[in-house]
Amino acid sequence: MVSWAITGATRGIGLGFVDNLSVNPKNQVFAIIRSRGTAGPLEELAAKRKNIHIVVTDISDPRKLDQAAAEISKVTAGSLDVLILNAGSAGPETSALPPTLPAKVDCTQIKTNLISNIYVINCFLDLVRNGKEKKIIFISSQSGDVEFTRVTGLSTLLGYSISKAGMNIVTTKFGAELTQDGIKMLSLSPGWVNTDAAVTGDPAIRKFMLNAFRKLDPSVNGPISVDESVTHQLQVIQSLTEANSGKFVTHHGNHDEWF
Ligand SMILES: NC(=O)c1ccc[n+]([C@@H]2O[C@H](COP(=O)([O-])OP(=O)(O)OC[C@H]3O[C@@H](n4cnc5c(N)ncnc54)[C@H](OP(=O)(O)O)[C@@H]3O)[C@@H](O)[C@H]2O)c1
Repeated sequence: MVSWAITGATRGIGLGFVDNLSVNPKNQVFAIIRSRGTAGPLEELAAKRKNIHIVVTDISDPRKLDQAAAEISKVTAGSLDVLILNAGSAGPETSALPPTLPAKVDCTQIKTNLISNIYVINCFLDLVRNGKEKKIIFISSQSGDVEFTRVTGLSTLLGYSISKAGMNIVTTKFGAELTQDGIKMLSLSPGWVNTDAAVTGDPAIRKFMLNAFRKLDPSVNGPISVDESVTHQLQVIQSLTEANSGKFVTHHGNHDEWF
């Protein structure tokens, strides 16, 4: 049995990880969510696959996270092999403003995408220490990469980009400390993926993003499917070793193929 916990498992990439992993009965999958309000498809899947366990918690509250870790511990006898920090959001409409027009500096994304992830790591650390794989994966974003931003010229999503760039270094710092325990850390960009977060339903936004992305890669035509992204990401996670722990890589396992 390999045990996996994925935050933000109701929709999009998180649900894709749960679906892809739970096909294999040798995987034990903990789908960590904040509410059952958006969890209809996850609950339908969990009703069919007994290796899916839904855990409701609040990633911004370490006390609730401790309870979630205890819930997982009861099933796994105190261990967790792979923790995937996937929950995240790009934020409200105001996050689309450029940095020169900060109506109000909004720290929501920094709290959700950065501070909460530090809580999740620390509250689940003892479980991971006792795991066989000992892997912690942060689902980052191209938006947190300096060169990607420089070449595409994308100035918006300031809070989101800060949170992802900040969390990349947090991942590296944890990796530096935890290497002594054999724990491997990785920041992983999932690609441009067809989910609610990618806002590809709006033709104007899609065109704007395509124009920016093509400055970096003229061949990009649109977002990839959740399944394609998750399949690539799982290959990268599989190949994570102590030698590449602490890096920030794309779903292709390198630092230049962002799509
Ligand atoms: N899609 C892309 O192209 C893309 C590109 C780069 C990076 N990413 C990253 O990939 C990850 C997954 O994104 P996605 O595209 O799958 O987005 P999504 O479809 O919008 O799903 C986001 C997930 O995160 C959860 N979530 C959001 N805010 C949360 C909070 N404050 N507390 C707990 N859970 C929260 C959501 O739960 P609810 O259902 O309860 O809202 C949902 O399960 C994110 O970290 C995102 O930044 C995505």
